[in-house]
Parts: sequence; C-alpha cells; structure tokens
Amino acid sequence: MLSKGVVLLAVLSAVSAQTYQRLGTCPTLGCVLPPDQQDFLPGQQFDIRFEIHAPVNGSEAYNNGIPDTAFSATIVKDTGNGKCTPQSIASFFNVSEPALETWKFSWYEDLFAKDAKNASLVNVASKIYRRVALYEPGKYNVTLTYYGNKTTTATWVVRPVADVKKAKNVIVFIGDGMTTNMITAARLLGHKAVNGRYQSLLKLDHFPIVGHQMTHSIDSFITDSANSASALYSGHKSTVNAMGVYADSSPDLYDDPKVETIVELLKRIWGSAWGAVSTAFIADATPIALTAHTRSRYAYGPLIEQALNGFTNYSWTPMDGPDAYFGGGAEQFLAGSGSYNGEDYYKKFADKNYTVSLNKTSLAAASNTSKALGIFCKSNLPVWIDRNVFTANLKNYTNDPSGASAAATDLPGLKEMTLKAIDVLHARGGDKGFFLMSEAASIDKQMHVLDYERALGDLLELDDTVRATREKLRALGELDNTLIVVTADHGHGFDVFGSADTKYMAAQEDEREKRNAVGVYQNSGLSQYMVEQPGISYNTGSNFPVNWDPRYVIAAGMGGNPDHRENYKLNTTGNRVPASGSSNYVSSYDNPDGFVVNGTLPTDESQGVHSLTDVPVYAWGPCQETFSGTYSNIDVFYKIASCLGLAHSTNKTDSTLPQKHHHW
Ligand SMILES: *[C@@H]1O[C@H](CO)[C@@H](O)[C@H](O)[C@H]1NC(C)=O
Ligand SMILES: *[C@@H]1O[C@H](CO)[C@@H](O)[C@H](O)[C@H]1NC(C)=O
Ligand SMILES: *[C@@H]1O[C@H](CO)[C@@H](O)[C@H](O)[C@H]1NC(C)=O
Ligand SMILES: *[C@@H]1O[C@H](CO)[C@@H](O)[C@H](O)[C@H]1NC(C)=O
Ligand SMILES: *[C@@H]1O[C@H](CO)[C@@H](O)[C@H](O)[C@H]1NC(C)=O
Ligand SMILES: *[C@@H]1O[C@H](CO)[C@@H](O)[C@H](O)[C@H]1NC(C)=O
Ligand SMILES: *[C@@H]1O[C@H](CO)[C@@H](O)[C@H](O)[C@H]1NC(C)=O
Ligand SMILES: *[C@@H]1O[C@H](CO)[C@@H](O)[C@H](O)[C@H]1NC(C)=O
Ligand SMILES: *[C@@H]1O[C@H](CO)[C@@H](O)[C@H](O)[C@H]1NC(C)=O
Ligand SMILES: *[C@@H]1O[C@H](CO)[C@@H](O)[C@H](O)[C@H]1NC(C)=O
Ligand SMILES: *[C@@H]1O[C@H](CO)[C@@H](O)[C@H](O)[C@H]1NC(C)=O
Ligand SMILES: *[C@@H]1O[C@H](CO)[C@@H](O)[C@H](O)[C@H]1NC(C)=O
Ligand SMILES: [Zn+2]
Repeated sequence: MLSKGVVLLAVLSAVSAQTYQRLGTCPTLGCVLPPDQQDFLPGQQFDIRFEIHAPVNGSEAYNNGIPDTAFSATIVKDTGNGKCTPQSIASFFNVSEPALETWKFSWYEDLFAKDAKNASLVNVASKIYRRVALYEPGKYNVTLTYYGNKTTTATWVVRPVADVKKAKNVIVFIGDGMTTNMITAARLLGHKAVNGRYQSLLKLDHFPIVGHQMTHSIDSFITDSANSASALYSGHKSTVNAMGVYADSSPDLYDDPKVETIVELLKRIWGSAWGAVSTAFIADATPIALTAHTRSRYAYGPLIEQALNGFTNYSWTPMDGPDAYFGGGAEQFLAGSGSYNGEDYYKKFADKNYTVSLNKTSLAAASNTSKALGIFCKSNLPVWIDRNVFTANLKNYTNDPSGASAAATDLPGLKEMTLKAIDVLHARGGDKGFFLMSEAASIDKQMHVLDYERALGDLLELDDTVRATREKLRALGELDNTLIVVTADHGHGFDVFGSADTKYMAAQEDEREKRNAVGVYQNSGLSQYMVEQPGISYNTGSNFPVNWDPRYVIAAGMGGNPDHRENYKLNTTGNRVPASGSSNYVSSYDNPDGFVVNGTLPTDESQGVHSLTDVPVYAWGPCQETFSGTYSNIDVFYKIASCLGLAHSTNKTDSTLPQKHHHW
C-alpha cells in the first residue's frame, strides 16, 4: 500500500553499479536478504531482512525520499504444479511480526561523485525476521511487494543433503591466498629433480582428489578473506569484509541478517569438539569467520568475545567457545584498547577453564583434556623462514604476548599448533568427533608484500603440517575416520617466469641492464634451492630447501602490483616493504640494488592485491570423491556438511536430531 500524497516517478534511470554500489545484492529499491539465487542446508538457521530504499537525490531519486513502510512479503514453495499459496513470512515460519526499522545512509555513485564529495542519500524502511530455518529441500520463491505494485523476487534452493554422518572428523587446511602457481613454485624450491623428474614430492601431490573452486564474492568478482572464509564455512556468499551475514545497509555492524556456520551447526547437532589454528592473529578473518557475524572484519575485540561466548544478541543461539584456539594476536586478549570493552581475555578464557599458553614449551605441556587457548605473539606469527632459517630476525620484533616490551622467541609453528590441537580435539570430541580449521596465513600476507620466498616457506610449512597430520591421525587410529581438505580462500596473481642471476644484477649500474640478469626459457636453468653450498647449513629438514639464498633465484612477479624495486633476491635481514610513505612510491630501502617496476594498481595501494583465479581443493578421506570437478566456494561447505550429516529436514527437539552414523 502506498500512503496518500506520495508522488511516484515512473522511470528509474539505470545505474551501472560497479565501482560503488548502493547495496551490492539489491539492484532495485526493494531488497530481499538472503537475495535471489541463494542455497541453504536443510535446517540451517538464518535471518531474513527486507529493505525498501527511497533515494533522496542522485540518479535514482524516488518518491521524494520517502520509503514505503507498508511493504509486504510472502514465501511459497515451488512444487511445479502452481497449487501452493504464498504465505506471509510470519505465518510461514510461525514467528511474530517484527517491528519496523528506519535509517538512512549515503553512497557515491562513481569516482566523479567521490572526487566532488557528492554523496547520494537514501532513506530506508526495513523489517528483519530472526532465526528461522527451511527444512524441506526444494525451491522457494520469496516475493517482496512495495511502492504499491513493485516486486522483488528471490528464488532460494534448499539442497537435498543427506543427514547421515560419514566422517567422524574433518580437518580443513586453508592456505590463505594459495594458488596452483605457488604450489608449483614451492615444489621447485623444496624438492630436488634429476633430469626433469622429481625425487620427492609435496604431500599435496599425493592427495587422490583435486578440484577447483570459484572464489567470487556475492557482489564483486574479487573477494577478500572474510567473505571467502564465510562462504566456505556457511554455504552463503557475502560481501567483502563481511562474515556470517548478508551485508545490509544499516549503520549497526552486528544487526545484519545472519547465517549459521559449520561449527555452530556441528555443535548444535552433534555436540562435537571444534578448534581453529592460524599463523595470523586469531581475530583475523580466516579463523574468526567460524564464529563471527558482522559486516566488518575489523571489529577484532567484539569478534573474540563472539568466539568465546557465541553471538548473544538478536535471538541467535549462543554457542560454546572453541576447544582448541591457537595463533597470534595478543592485542585482543591483553586488557587495553584492543580487547572487547578493554577486558583481559586471557582471564576470560581461563575463567571458562581454558588452559592458557603463551609459548611453545607451555603449549606442549598443556593438558589435552581441557579446553586450550594459545596466543604466542602480538600480531601475526613471524614467518617460517624467520622462525627456522634467519632466526636473528625474531629479535627485531616487540611482540611478546604477555605485553612485555620484548620479542616472542619461544614460538610454535603451524605444525606444532595443529598437532596439539588434534590431541586436544581428539580427547575432548571422543565419539562425537571434531572439526579443525588450520590456516597458513602468511602465504597471503607475504604475497601481499611481494616477499615470495617468505610466502613459499609458509606454503612448505603447510605441506609439512599436512604430512605430519596424516601421521598423527594414523597413530591415533583416526586416519580412516577423518576427511582432510586442503584449499585456499582466494589467490594472488603470482607466477615464476624464469631465474635471475643475483650476482650479475648487482654488478650492473644501469636499471635496464639489470633486467638482463633474468634468464628465460633455456636460460632459466635448474633450481638452485636444493643444491647444498659448502659451509652454509640451513638445517631445516627434508621437504624444505637446503639453500634459501642461492645466487640463481626464481624470477617471479604479480598480476597486479604496487610500485616497487626488484632484484628477485630474498631479504635475509627482514621483511620486504615494497612501497611506503605518503605517496606509496617505491620504498627507499626495498632492494636498493634492484630496478624500479612501476605499479599497475591505484597509487594508494602499498601492497599487492588478490586476484580472480580459481583455487585448488585437495581432499583425502571419507567423501573425498565429492570434491573432484569445478564448483563454487559455497559447495565446499555443502560437501563437508553432507559428509558430517549436518542437514536435518524437520525441526525436532535435540533428542530426535539425526543420530545415524557409522559406529566408530
Ligand atoms: C551531484 O550529482 C548529481 C547527479 O547524481 C549531479 O546532478 C550534480 O550536478 C552533482 N553535483 C556536483 C556538485 O557535482
Ligand atoms: C544530496 O543531498 C545532500 C544534502 O543536501 C548533498 O550534500 C549531496 O551532494 C546531494 N547529492 C547529490 C548526488 O545530489
Ligand atoms: C517461482 O519463481 C519462478 C521464477 O520467477 C517461477 O517460474 C515460478 O512459477 C514461481 N513459482 C511459484 C510457486 O510462484
Ligand atoms: C507456532 O508457535 C507457537 C509458539 O510460539 C506454538 O505453540 C505453535 O504450536 C506453533 N505452531 C505450529 C503450526 O508449529
Ligand atoms: C524449532 O522448534 C522449537 C520448538 O518448537 C522452537 O523453539 C524453535 O524456535 C524452532 N526453530 C526454528 C529454527 O524454527
Ligand atoms: C504501478 O503503479 C503506478 C502508480 O500507481 C502506475 O503508474 C503504474 O502504471 C503501475 N505499474 C504497473 C506495472 O502496474
Ligand atoms: C551485539 O554483540 C556485539 C558483540 O558480539 C556487541 O559489540 C554489540 O554492541 C551488540 N549489539 C547490541 C545491540 O547489543
Ligand atoms: C570450571 O571447572 C570447575 C572445577 O572443575 C567447575 O566447578 C566449574 O563449573 C567450571 N567452569 C566452567 C565455566 O565450566
Ligand atoms: C613459557 O610460559 C611459561 C608459563 O607461562 C613460563 O613459565 C615460561 O617462562 C615461558 N618460557 C619462555 C621461554 O618464555
Ligand atoms: C633485524 O635483525 C638483523 C639481524 O638478523 C639485522 O641485521 C637487521 O638490521 C635488523 N633489521 C631491522 C629492520 O632492524
Ligand atoms: C630488508 O628488510 C629490512 C626490514 O624491512 C629493511 O630495513 C632492509 O632495507 C631490507 N634490505 C633490502 C636489501 O631490501
Ligand atoms: C615510473 O613512473 C614515474 C612516474 O610515476 C616515472 O618518473 C619513472 O620514470 C617511471 N620509471 C620506470 C622505470 O618506468
Ligand atoms: Zn589477502
């Protein structure tokens, strides 16, 4: 219904929403969230939001900026015979009619509008239906009717997913930003070849099944780690920076319509143990998206609170905190500005009977039967190369997790954290099994700063961790019960195109002459990373290079890069900083003996960015065969959820939830 006296403009001028969008999932003035083309797991809980937009000005100005508050919405199951009658949302889901909300927001329509600070204003009327679920597989049409006769229809699909549990445990490894090109380069560095035949391979190379996943966001073709992790964990794509929600246009970062994640489902349905391990700060997107429901990945303190106590407002079901939680990021645990309400989160976890470890020694000694928190430094863990090869660099940090002004030096790596997490989860999960996510975060972080060897060192550490994980599971008698998936959340446009003679390059004065140090095709020669150098011992074990700093190095680059200076050489004394300063032009201390490579990105980008490429999915264990082929990132969730028997097609009480599973 339309209120009296409201003038309707007949024609909406088309806006080619691209660089900036009013609301990416809502090209019309009536928004249905979840929007059209979304899939659901039977029984998965979610919120439904409707928004009516009334642009005050700009190219879409409508109805004098007065949003229709008398909008209505229906849902109908599409049985194919047209006999079903659409029902109101409240009656279909048997929930009460929510209160009307209103707010306003502004946005730039394009770069010209941004330059002129000419924002378009929009008034909004909205309703949100909290915590509903669809149980019967099939297609559903949701129709929003507004401004009298306008409609927006969303078709949702509840997938026919079996509720039989086929895997007791699932371990998902995420190489953040990891692509097939990087895996290929890591193999070249860490494994020796004779006459074109590798004498050993990566553990990943032994996986029986490889697939490809498409990583796009719901409203942009390049994703970030928040949104892509959320797709992998919930089966719902979202917007860059958002996790566990469909981004709405309201100012509140926490009121957006939520979707239930894999660990929330697993806890609610099977009561399994769960954990997360990361070489990033633990509030970073990939680990925190398991429990986070927010439009902003940057709300670090509140997101640690959500991890510990679950999401406690807006009628959501609070969930028990993780059984094992290991990584960096002391800033969100130390009392002070980085933690939620400034409180001491080490204490908050300890009060819930967690063991708290702040170094490798203490982690190894922690009980396997108690819940375990391990925070080993501020910010991200120093990378594998600095922890294992150039260890003097560790002293340059002021990252002690206790807050002392000192360097954290007794640091576990991805392998130690992952194996300990498996011990804890195995002990605590018992017959109910467990879910673990283990992230090699700095593949991405080091690719961002074009520090290729540091990225590949962490990729080799991931591979070494996968190898050790299979041995651990075998020793625990759990190998055949455990699905292992190794994948990435997105890529970077990295590849190797030759080798470079670092000695020749350093000897050339002229910048163009320096480029003649690059050997392409037959001049690329053979990898020198597996050739021992007399007198130099890197002593980092099999499956890693014996020489990280040879004269002949890989020549590699990026599909998109900031201004930088290149010499292809590993910086043995610290991390690379390609561009810096207010202009973000080439940093004065990046490879002083290299040549300038002018960037291809906006000049305010001091780092490389994510790229479009599909990323690999490796699978081994129960349900492995379901992972072959090419599919969307959300399918990774449905494959895992199906293997774990997380679907349930009726709303039964806890005692009658699916109980069918193999006898372990
Ligand atoms: C602001 O944008 C509108 C169209 O969206 C345009 O008509 C107007 O001229 C712009 N104003 C300025 C100051 O650029
Ligand atoms: C919309 O109106 C606001 C407030 O009057 C103004 O600041 C803004 O520039 C206008 N935007 C456009 C696109 O006209
Ligand atoms: C649902 O929407 C689809 C596509 O718009 C349409 O073909 C179908 O007839 C609709 N079904 C019902 C039951 O409304
Ligand atoms: C609807 O919910 C009420 C409680 O809120 C319950 O008593 C009633 O049985 C429900 N109706 C159906 C059809 O499930
Ligand atoms: C399932 O049913 C219970 C008991 O009737 C009710 O409290 C709960 O809200 C329902 N959950 C959903 C998602 O419909
Ligand atoms: C919708 O309503 C408006 C205003 O009453 C009218 O001008 C328009 O023709 C209607 N459109 C349709 C498709 O019925
Ligand atoms: C909801 O919870 C978050 C923390 O999870 C908190 O920061 C936020 O203020 C809460 N919002 C409301 C309206 O209570
Ligand atoms: C912690 O352990 C103590 C002693 O076993 C127990 O009394 C208490 O309830 C536990 N607290 C929590 C939050 O589980
Ligand atoms: C490790 O942590 C334990 C327990 O907090 C502490 O006693 C020990 O001194 C720490 N070791 C190092 C090397 O920092
Ligand atoms: C870091 O430590 C190394 C010693 O390994 C030293 O040579 C280097 O200058 C230090 N770098 C910075 C930025 O302090
Ligand atoms: C190596 O990294 C450190 C720390 O970022 C920096 O100070 C130094 O200039 C770099 N050296 C080279 C050769 O790039
Ligand atoms: C890089 O770009 C700057 C202008 O932004 C130019 O002055 C310089 O010559 C360029 N350098 C190279 C090597 O292309
Ligand atoms: Zn990234």
